[in-house]
Amino acid sequence: MPSLSARDRFVEYVSKAIDAKRLIKLTLGGPTGKQEHLQNVFVRPVALQEGPRLKFVYRSATQDVTKNVTSEEGVARVAALLETDFRNGHLFATDENITLEQRETRSPLLKVERATVVRPPPVAPAHDRVKHRPIEPKAAPWLHSLGVTDAQGAVCKGMEAKFRQINKFVEILQGLVADAGLAVPGADGRARALRLVDMGCGKGYLTFAAYDWLRGHGWPAADVLGLEARPDLVVLTARVAAEHGLAGLRFRHGTIADTDVGTPDVLVALHACDTATDDAIARGVKAGAALIVVAPCCHKELRAQLKSPPGMAGALKHGILRERYAEFVTDALRAALLEWAGYESRVFEFVSAEHTARNLMIAAVKRRPPGDAAAGERVRELASLHGIKHQRLVEALGFELPG
Ligand SMILES: C[S@@+](CC[C@H](N)C(=O)[O-])C[C@H]1O[C@@H](n2cnc3c(N)ncnc32)[C@H](O)[C@@H]1O
Repeated sequence: MPSLSARDRFVEYVSKAIDAKRLIKLTLGGPTGKQEHLQNVFVRPVALQEGPRLKFVYRSATQDVTKNVTSEEGVARVAALLETDFRNGHLFATDENITLEQRETRSPLLKVERATVVRPPPVAPAHDRVKHRPIEPKAAPWLHSLGVTDAQGAVCKGMEAKFRQINKFVEILQGLVADAGLAVPGADGRARALRLVDMGCGKGYLTFAAYDWLRGHGWPAADVLGLEARPDLVVLTARVAAEHGLAGLRFRHGTIADTDVGTPDVLVALHACDTATDDAIARGVKAGAALIVVAPCCHKELRAQLKSPPGMAGALKHGILRERYAEFVTDALRAALLEWAGYESRVFEFVSAEHTARNLMIAAVKRRPPGDAAAGERVRELASLHGIKHQRLVEALGFELPG
């Protein structure tokens, strides 16, 4: 019988530690790059109502995606991840630590260290964890004025998803601001004023959250502007900012296409309707913003012109598939156009799909001068494959589509 490989033996150790309830945690690292942006996977046992599960946290530069799975599925996932996505594994069990290193030029290393003191097995249920959130409800009284928390600072019933979305947004923003090279205040504690504009800011939940986080994390002079087409919302948000003495947080009435917002470092537009997302991206690109973050909403523009690519006509006769396909093509075009304009763009799920269907985010970090030829070619291919002659961002950026 052939002997087991180092990887198979490591997976066997993992399986045994899980079965014997000895697993404390497991970390997979050394990404192979096959899954873009995936940096680590962390695995812990958790006690859920439906029974013991393994909690997998898939960490990338912009987000953590969590999945709770059974032991059996968990072991299969670990085996698959070590086969394709990660070179290294570290297993921490109550009585041993096991390290796997799959080295490129040398044979793989499997190291087994017996613990000198046996550690207690972890039993904490998932919901008993101490949460470290960027925005703490009791420390952010503006949340109460916006109706997210009650007078005691507890999250109001029905606002839990909004509160989670606010924190998730700030977590993502945190990583992106750093990635865009904007996150370092001067050694004397003073930073130049970082300018962030939130376009189509609505009731301002995310504008206040961005301001709160920036001001508390090294950007004492952060200048945050919320732009909104509905005057009633501008009155409300400006009043709340004034009541809480939030200097440097401003709200302004106007439309994205027609309002000059200067030269922001960070441009945000979350769930701005249809082509308002394109207007916002175009504003960011033209202003040379270091970071552009949008979560598109209701993609209507391309639906009428979309031509079915070869072999797709049957699938796209169904209204819902056609609608989703139009969303896909619109956002793929936006991501490619941003690349063409000199940005590195990423498309990912912002919050879990169970909270909102509008959960796609496009984040773009300025890296190069505009005019990337390969990205331009991708835009042209996408457009000609789908018969697209007009698209708002294409036109706003002055990109030429084949006639
Ligand atoms: C769905 S809400 C999202 C609010 C906020 N960004 C969020 O994600 O919580 C969209 C907001 O964008 C505003 N809006 C839509 N199109 C706009 C435009 N062209 N210019 C300015 N605001 C716009 C709407 O009035 C609305 O308040």
